[in-house]
Amino acid sequence: MSVFLAPSMIAADWSRPVEAMTELAEAGCEWLHFDAMDGHFVPNLTLGPMFVEAMRPHSKLHFDCHLMLANSGDYIEAFAKAGADSISVHFEGNPHLHRLVSRIKDCGAMAGVVLNPATPVAFLDAIIPDLDYVLVMSVNPGFSGQKFLPLATKKIGQLHRIRGELGLSFRIQVDGGMSPQTAPQAVAAGADVLVCGASSVFIAGQPLGQSVAAMRAAIGVGQEPR
Ligand code: DX5
Ligand code: ZN
Repeated sequence: MSVFLAPSMIAADWSRPVEAMTELAEAGCEWLHFDAMDGHFVPNLTLGPMFVEAMRPHSKLHFDCHLMLANSGDYIEAFAKAGADSISVHFEGNPHLHRLVSRIKDCGAMAGVVLNPATPVAFLDAIIPDLDYVLVMSVNPGFSGQKFLPLATKKIGQLHRIRGELGLSFRIQVDGGMSPQTAPQAVAAGADVLVCGASSVFIAGQPLGQSVAAMRAAIGVGQEPR
């Protein structure tokens, strides 16, 4: 499984998001990550399905929507209709996780479940065979530009081991504080989709292509996870 970069659009220049998406595609990124925050589940407000819908005609990249909403279940169909190729919902705050995952798949999107830093991997035991990806938060969700929490590395390793032992093919995504310094340890542990925000790709005054190249060089382009 090759390693994908998934730049997080909340960290882009919102006065020119289409240009950012084009530059990221030209730089060889595979996924774009859209962080939906509602001011309840996390203490920040960002984007909703209308933004995703507005961006959809302007990019052929995979649109990955990370729902940080108190009522994520109310918006799955809206994000899918807006053009999401994958949708992830948090373990925390979603008691009917199996139902949400089934609904994401019914919409034709890849289904992911997100673990906050303090949530153990073991809580996914029953649902892991149904997942297309697991998102390991390596910061407490809510803001771009936070520091990578090393506890995420162990959880990525656990998921990598489980994936091998059970013969599953879910992707392992990591989100928060990824940089040329922190990404190599996440990839070595088994991560294969790296969300990249203000800590790596969207750096003031630096062309996006240069930031992406630095990340790809740090992890080794096309590198196979351990
Ligand atoms: C944080 C979001 C992230 C964020 C990552 O809650 O889920 O996707 O934008 O940004 P960086 O890479 O700056 O930590
Ligand atoms: Zn995210």
